Amino acid sequence: FVHQLADESVGLRELLRSPLHASPAPALPLPADLYGPSRRNSGGVDLAEEAMLDPLLRALASTTVPVVPMAEPGDVAAAVAAARTAFAGWSSTPVERRGAILREAADAMQRELPHLCALLVREAFKTWGDAVAEVREAIDFLRYYSRQAERLMQPESLPGPTGESNELRLEGRGTWACISPWNFPLAIFTGQVAAALATGNTVVAKPAEQTPAIARETVTLLHAAGVPVAALRLLHGTGETVGAALVKADGIAGVVFTGSTEVARLIARSLADRDGPILPLIAETGGINAMLVDSTALPEQVADAVVQSAFRSAGQRCSALRLLCLHEGIADAVLEMVGGAARELACGDPGRLDTDVGPVIDATAYDNLRRHVGRLQREARACFPPAAPREALPNLVPPQAFEVKRVADVAQEVFGPVLHVVRWSGDPLALVDEINSLGWGLTLGVQTRIDSRAQAIAARARIGNVYVNRNMIGAVVGVQPFGGEGLSGTGPKAGGPHYLLRFCAERTVTVNT
Ligand code: SER
Repeated sequence: FVHQLADESVGLRELLRSPLHASPAPALPLPADLYGPSRRNSGGVDLAEEAMLDPLLRALASTTVPVVPMAEPGDVAAAVAAARTAFAGWSSTPVERRGAILREAADAMQRELPHLCALLVREAFKTWGDAVAEVREAIDFLRYYSRQAERLMQPESLPGPTGESNELRLEGRGTWACISPWNFPLAIFTGQVAAALATGNTVVAKPAEQTPAIARETVTLLHAAGVPVAALRLLHGTGETVGAALVKADGIAGVVFTGSTEVARLIARSLADRDGPILPLIAETGGINAMLVDSTALPEQVADAVVQSAFRSAGQRCSALRLLCLHEGIADAVLEMVGGAARELACGDPGRLDTDVGPVIDATAYDNLRRHVGRLQREARACFPPAAPREALPNLVPPQAFEVKRVADVAQEVFGPVLHVVRWSGDPLALVDEINSLGWGLTLGVQTRIDSRAQAIAARARIGNVYVNRNMIGAVVGVQPFGGEGLSGTGPKAGGPHYLLRFCAERTVTVNT
């Protein structure tokens, strides 16, 4: 199955050679200052070929972020009622047909890649490397869930006594509320919606208020591919108003939410307080994600993994590294390399191809980070002087790291390119226990050349995704099912073989033959 996915997954080269780009493009003037001196990019995607750059740059020049009207809380009931009405038709559409529609949407995303990337750069301040990777992830979700649903939703005959037939059937549950964050405004939005639709549910989606345009574009594309308009409704607005009203709305069948632990709790409380059916909640939240580095690790490999995991995407991934635990025998060597590499990262305008770290999402995020860094400057030791941003733009936070005394000093998740470092010695499993005791369980990095130690740590950690001797971000759909436990979420893992089951009702039909 993974091979099939890999065949269907599209490389950047193929993505950029889709028919849209093959057609003669109008000669738009390209802003000269988009090119930096090195065209270096810390993303996993190599943008350093002219053939790949031009469609992206043309899209950026011609893309503006549209203003999107916000819904009123009063619009919620109508959207849910419409999506509920659409449930009968969509859930009885053959699963193969639903899958074909979702794969048609994936093909459309592939064709629209430059435009979608430009929107991600303009609206969410993604770097180009991150934007391309995000479009690919969204495409993967559409293809993966559509194929999974086709496999899972076949009725299964179960052995039973003679004279009786038993069949297990999976069905959609009804209308799901899909509430998604700004940090992956295309991929997580698409993943939630695709999972619900593939399994025959209908959807009312409420994307983050910071990134409505990319959500609107995605919904337009899904409708054009054949998802009935009433089966997928979009509501823009804040969590406090529209999100809260959606979670309380009569007629929803479940909530899938990605965001903060605090809001996940509010949603759980709101669902628990309802009369009527007990509704499922799938919540993926954040993490104080650690990397445990022992004295046998390769410092160069560690430094690269740290810079990728802590600073890429301006640290605005729920998987990002927040707490680097360095064995005292290797700490100085690693910190020197991390400091050198971090100061090389270009922090500035995300529209430039050579930018590594763009602005954080908004002024609120910036102010939170500034306050947090101010506290660290007073109470901890800076590991290296942060480089000045290359451009004078709002909300730029250069990568930085601070050494604190204990694991327990890092109690709160801070969403940005700010890393906390502790030194350790002694028993690595005792350190894992300390990390476990923080209560978060999303990602863990392990750097060691002792295989048995890596395995022992992975077994002891109560953490959803463990990455050994590599970076700890960028889980691939169908390859590294992603999601945490404890304060980090309810499961099931997105992009994994069990995710769709939570969207389904299970029915057993027993017939006396
Ligand atoms: N799925 C993303 C990653 O693995 C985080 O949301 O980095």
